[in-house]
Amino acid sequence: MQKLIIDGGLPLNGETVIQTAKNAALPIIAACILTDEPVTIENCPHLNDIDAMLNIMRHLGCTAEFFGDNLTVCCRDVALNVINSDLTGKLRSSIFILGSILSRCRRAYISHPGGCEIGLRPIDLHISGLKGLSVKIVDDCGVICCDGTDMKSGVINLDFASVGATENLMMAGALLDGETVIVNAAREPEIVDLAEFINAMGGDVRGAGGSVISIRGVKKLHGSAYTPMPDRICAGTVLAAVNATGGSVTVKNVVPDHIFGITERLKKAGARLSVRGNAVRITADARPRPIHKLETNVYPAFPTDMQPQFCAMLARASGSSVIVENLFENRFGYTSELVKMGASITVKDRIAVVNGVSSLHGATLKACDLRGGAALVIAALAAEGRSVVYGVEHIDRGYECIERTFAELGGAIHRAEV
Ligand code: EPZ
Repeated sequence: MQKLIIDGGLPLNGETVIQTAKNAALPIIAACILTDEPVTIENCPHLNDIDAMLNIMRHLGCTAEFFGDNLTVCCRDVALNVINSDLTGKLRSSIFILGSILSRCRRAYISHPGGCEIGLRPIDLHISGLKGLSVKIVDDCGVICCDGTDMKSGVINLDFASVGATENLMMAGALLDGETVIVNAAREPEIVDLAEFINAMGGDVRGAGGSVISIRGVKKLHGSAYTPMPDRICAGTVLAAVNATGGSVTVKNVVPDHIFGITERLKKAGARLSVRGNAVRITADARPRPIHKLETNVYPAFPTDMQPQFCAMLARASGSSVIVENLFENRFGYTSELVKMGASITVKDRIAVVNGVSSLHGATLKACDLRGGAALVIAALAAEGRSVVYGVEHIDRGYECIERTFAELGGAIHRAEV
C-alpha cells in the first residue's frame, strides 16, 4: 500500500503533457470485442481501471498486451464466460462489455458493476435500452443474463443522457442489421471518440456529439490502430491546482473546446488563461476568487468529474461559493477531509457552501474515490505544512503517476510505501 507525502505552499510553474483519457480508453477497449482482428490503442494510459478492464477482456479469452505505451488487443477467440463480481466489482465501466459482446456473440452473462461510491449508479437505462433492441434480459442472483438471439436494430429514446448507456447502445448496434437510433444521447467528447474508433474499424456511426446518434450496422468490423483523445479531466485537474497554489503553467495535449466549461469557470475564479493550438496556459495569483454558484451537469456544462477539484480550489477563495451537484447523490464525501485541513464547508444533500479561508494546513488524509482523491492532492499542494494522503489506489485509477505530474511543476510531492 502506498501514500503521497506533500509539503504544500509552493507555486506550480512550467509545462506538462496531458495523458490520454481514461473515460475514452475504457469503452474503446470494450469495443475491441466487435472485431476478431487485432487492434492497437496508441498511447494508452497505464491506470488501475485499465488493468481491471483488461482482466475482464482476458477472462473472455481476448489477448491484451502493452508494448511501451501502445496496447494491442485481439478478440479473435472471445468466449462467453460469465463475468463475475470479482471482475466487475472494481469497475463501473465493466458494464460497457455488454453492448459489444451482445453485438458480436448475441449472448452475455455479467455481474452488476461496482466502481466509485459517488452515488447509487443504477444501470436501468442500459438494460431498458438493450431490451429496446429485443434483447431478453433476466437478473439471476446478481448475474445479468442476456439473450440477444432475436436482437434487432431500433429507436431508443433515453430518459436521461447517460454516457455509459449511450456508449453501450452504440456498440450494441454496430453489427446489427439496419439502423439503430439513440435519441437524447449523451454528448460528451468521449462519445465522439468511441464513434470515431468504431468508424475507424469500418463501422457507420453518425451524429455523435449531438443528441441523436444513428448507427447503421455492418456485417463485419476490421482491426485498427487508434489514439484516444486527451484526458479533459486530467487537464482540468492540473489547471485547478495551479489556480489553488498560484503560478504559471502550460498544459499541453488538450482539446480547448473539450475544457471550455472548465476554463470559463477558472476565469471567474481569477485565473488568466490563453489558448495556443492544443496548449492552454494558465497564470494565477496565490488566492482564487469565489464562484457565486457552480453547478455540475451533462456536457457541455461544467463536468461533475471536476467538482471536487474546484471545491478544493475554492476552499481558499476570497469569499463564499455555492456548489450544486446535479448528477450524483453522494459526491461530497471528500469535504470532511478538507475540513480537517481547516476548510469551512457545509454540505446539505447535493449542495455545498464553501466559505473561503485565508489558509489551509497540512493533515493526514484518506482518499475514498478518484476525483475526491485528486481534490485532496490539490488542497495539500496549496496548504501550509505537510500532508499525507492515503487511499492512493483510488487516485491511480484515473491519474498516471500524479506525483510526477506535480513534482515536474515544482510541487513538493512524492510517493512512499505505507
Ligand atoms: C461516466 O460514468 C464517467 N465514467 C464518469 O466519470 C462521469 O462522472 C459520468 O459519465 C458523468 O459524466 C466513465 O466514462 C467510465 P452516466 P457513467 O451513465 O457512464 C444516472 C470519473 O471520475 N444513470 O452518464 O456511469 C447515474 O446514476 C467517473 O472518471 C441512471 O440513473 O455516467 C448518474 O446519476 C466517475 N441509470 C447519471 O445518470 C443508468 O442506467 C449519469 O450517469 C445510467 C445512469
